[in-house]
Amino acid sequence: MSTHTVALNTGGGDCPGLNAVIRAIVKRGTDRLGWRIVGIEDSFDGLLEDKLRVRDLTSDNTSGALVRGGTLLGTTNRGSPFSVRDDKGVAEDRSELVVERLRSLGCEGLIALGGDGTMRISHELSLKTGLKVIGVPKTIDNDLSGTDITFGFNSAVEFATQAVYRLHSTAESHDRIMVVEVMGRDAGFIALHAGLAGGADAILIPEIPFDLELVARKVRERQARGRYFSIVVVAEGATEAGGSQHFDQNGGNGGKASLRGIGDHVARGLSKLTGIDTRNTVLGHLQRGGIPTAFDRILATRLGNHAVDLVEADDWNRMVVFHKNRVDSLPLEDVIGRTKTVNLECDLFQAALGIGIEFGGIGAE
Ligand code: F6P
Repeated sequence: MSTHTVALNTGGGDCPGLNAVIRAIVKRGTDRLGWRIVGIEDSFDGLLEDKLRVRDLTSDNTSGALVRGGTLLGTTNRGSPFSVRDDKGVAEDRSELVVERLRSLGCEGLIALGGDGTMRISHELSLKTGLKVIGVPKTIDNDLSGTDITFGFNSAVEFATQAVYRLHSTAESHDRIMVVEVMGRDAGFIALHAGLAGGADAILIPEIPFDLELVARKVRERQARGRYFSIVVVAEGATEAGGSQHFDQNGGNGGKASLRGIGDHVARGLSKLTGIDTRNTVLGHLQRGGIPTAFDRILATRLGNHAVDLVEADDWNRMVVFHKNRVDSLPLEDVIGRTKTVNLECDLFQAALGIGIEFGGIGAE
């Protein structure tokens, strides 16, 4: 039996399914294989402060994690060990300290659960210090390349679909246009999937700069057929043709602006163009909270189990992926820094076009 000691952390924005991955790694790693697994709190922050914030993970203290949303280790989507600000706000590279501390804890490597930022930091740590790392990709945005799907995405889509669908009855009762702004950063996956599954009439995604007049035309066509309401799903990163992305005017978190506001812009514009009473709903972080769907629990368990396989095989510096319905892995260097966006040739997008969903720029006949 192997006797690995491995560190585990979660970085970037949380999403449903992180705890299910942790549970899978801990159950197999500790119970079945006799490893020690050291959980690091708040991404790399638990290793950067004077008092270490780490704890051994066991099947007892991770019990019930399969269905819990968020991450029991905590996370942050700010900063990096390569650029830590001191009291005077001066940035310092503390990457060596992180690795020294991992080694002093007896850890031979790190399994990092995160998005592109966490994968990049982990890869850079491995290049600079020789730290062995395995990445497990997560994000509700589904925008990581190399993997067909990330856990968290299905749960977010399920929630957003319900929300889009629920707006139908109130939209119809009041003869209104309902705009729904969903997350997804620079990728339109959540908007496309939730819009399709929730029965939207128009879907605006970052991949297609939109002309609002085309959306207004769709609304008028519906009116002419006796459908006096319309549902428009807008991805937070969508842009009007010739325009730019909308950001939270309050500055977002820690100076990092959050995408927000395009739904309001679209609602105002459509109201002006059509004369129809229009409302905007921003789903925001509701899409990241709550329990993972059955799909995400299963995907998370499969990815966690494969991360353990890689450690057992001494096959490091790879990211676990889900491709063509099976788990696999790719070298970290092949996947980082490559945002995946909606492929407009794919049959899912073509199906949405085929049934007449308006995208505000492509497929208008
Ligand atoms: O990447 C996940 C995500 O939820 C994006 O969809 C969204 O743009 C961003 O994180 C929000 O970040 P924050 O939680 O920092 O507001």
